[in-house]
Amino acid sequence: MKIFMDTAAIDDIRTAARWGVLDGVTTNPTLFAKVGGSYDDVLREICAITPGPVSAEVVAADVDGMLREGRHFATLAPNIVVKIPMSEEGLEAIAKLKADGIKTNCTLIFSANQGLLAAKAGASLLSPFVGRLDDINEDGMIVVRELVAIVDTYDLDAEVLAASIRHPRHVTEAALAGAHIATLPIKVLTQMVHHPLTDSGIETFRHDWEAAQAGAKAKAKAKG
Ligand code: E4P
Repeated sequence: MKIFMDTAAIDDIRTAARWGVLDGVTTNPTLFAKVGGSYDDVLREICAITPGPVSAEVVAADVDGMLREGRHFATLAPNIVVKIPMSEEGLEAIAKLKADGIKTNCTLIFSANQGLLAAKAGASLLSPFVGRLDDINEDGMIVVRELVAIVDTYDLDAEVLAASIRHPRHVTEAALAGAHIATLPIKVLTQMVHHPLTDSGIETFRHDWEAAQAGAKAKAKAKG
């Protein structure tokens, strides 16, 4: 399963790149608002340090506006993927951008049917929002599982990107459900690295090693 960073914060993306686990990035207007500046400049910088796709989200609600923003994003870097919300207008924009040769990520997917339509319209990434469904007492991972099965059954040319990931267990469940990608905030990525037994094990090994070194030094000094 590929790992994307769900952020517009350059430092977080650099961290994942240094750790060797960065496959792509997803941004959205809320994430961009947290860093500010020029969206174009931020996107260019993210694209330069990211080996794979970088999603840039349109804010227009009409087809022409989505196409204008999407075509502009596509000029910024070769790895831009235009993020389009699921809607009647969104499907039309996805189909038109596909005809232009521009890749899209259909976002705000909350049912397998929405994902099926997005794939048929030509989206290369399908983003079911797991956490937001869990928030309203549904099981968001069901949509990931169903969509993966549909994509596999009909050999659709699209990848399922598990989004709105809130904790490490979501990542494991997305991987087991067959999601092609999970996009994560830096907090979840960092939580995945650590385990209390790993951290205490490292500390014990270091302590025992230093004690042995000190013992050997003391022995050598007594001898000689
Ligand atoms: C990613 O593409 C989505 O925009 C993001 O995962 C949404 O996450 P949230 O529900 O935590 O805002």
